[in-house]
Amino acid sequence: MPVKPNIVERAAFYTFDAAPSTILDLAGLFAYQAVSTANELGLFQPLAKQPYSPQELADQLHLQERGLVTLLEALAAIGYVDVANGRYKNSKMAQKWLIEDAHFDAEALFCFWNAASRDLSPHMVEVIRSGERPFDFYEWVEADPALSDWYQRMLMMNAKMGGADVVKHLSVPTGNTRLLDVGGGHGTYTTLMCQKYPLLHGTILDSYAGLETGRQTVAQNNLQERITLQKGDMFESAWGEGFDLILLFNVLHQFDLDTGVSLLEKAYSALKPGGKVAVLDQVAGKVSGSATNALIRLVAMQYYLFADGRVFSRDDLTHMAGKVGFGTIQFHNLRNLPGNSLITAVRQ
Ligand SMILES: C[S@@+](CC[C@H](N)C(=O)[O-])C[C@H]1O[C@@H](n2cnc3c(N)ncnc32)[C@H](O)[C@@H]1O
Repeated sequence: MPVKPNIVERAAFYTFDAAPSTILDLAGLFAYQAVSTANELGLFQPLAKQPYSPQELADQLHLQERGLVTLLEALAAIGYVDVANGRYKNSKMAQKWLIEDAHFDAEALFCFWNAASRDLSPHMVEVIRSGERPFDFYEWVEADPALSDWYQRMLMMNAKMGGADVVKHLSVPTGNTRLLDVGGGHGTYTTLMCQKYPLLHGTILDSYAGLETGRQTVAQNNLQERITLQKGDMFESAWGEGFDLILLFNVLHQFDLDTGVSLLEKAYSALKPGGKVAVLDQVAGKVSGSATNALIRLVAMQYYLFADGRVFSRDDLTHMAGKVGFGTIQFHNLRNLPGNSLITAVRQ
């Protein structure tokens, strides 16, 4: 849980500016370190079952007791563990999200962001100074199969949490229908669509590494007959034609506006007349919730660091789709993915 100031501290930090709030940002960094360290040490699993004294837990996990106590006290202060009579157990929040929730993949989240903080974040200053990146994001991700899997699983987490809401807004005509999922990597969205529409056939276009996680998703859901994995570069490879629905989910934010338009043009050509393109992405601008707004802006900074990416506004996305000739452009808000919108547009 982020460090939570009480009413007096809130007044000091936020209302009267009596203390530098930067200290709370630093606390957020330290809190992240505490939780990701605890996750890597495997602390939350035993603490899910019963309360432990530090000594019992240190013995079980082969840790040095004094270090463990320091970590447990920090975790108690930020709401991940509860302590009573010198014994620790998971808090309700940690139990819910780190142990019981079927979709929240803490390992993928921490491992991906730890790697990004180690290898990419140190370049932030030089990237903002020069606009040049000394790395290619996907070469970096894909050079390590474990990192590539954590990356895809982290994206999959959003897909599992918000997928039902997304699918609800995407109808396809009855009969044999065809879907193309560009940059669909882990395959969750195409899988959910195929589960909803039994006659639908899907193609997922992504890099070889991106498709590795998708291959597992498709096999686990026994959809090998209906989902084709197409390895290729979305700019260089032909997308085919005659599709009813094309997904561009979390793809446009990696590029500038002109590149986005060129991808939408490719989608337009690959759709049947009357077919739909669906874009899922964060949308900047009128966002209700200051935490959501801050998260969008902070994520946009990561997109910029990684690959000159950005979060587009509603006007940008409407302009891009309109420029290509799409009509009936609609924005759908997603309750389970705050800050994200699903945009659908129809080929004339
Ligand atoms: C941010 S992820 C989005 C994954 C998925 N669509 C989702 O919404 O969760 C972007 C995906 O695009 C793929 N990708 C990026 N550049 C690509 C390219 N030039 N050609 C093919 N796939 C690419 C990545 O491998 C990754 O799976």
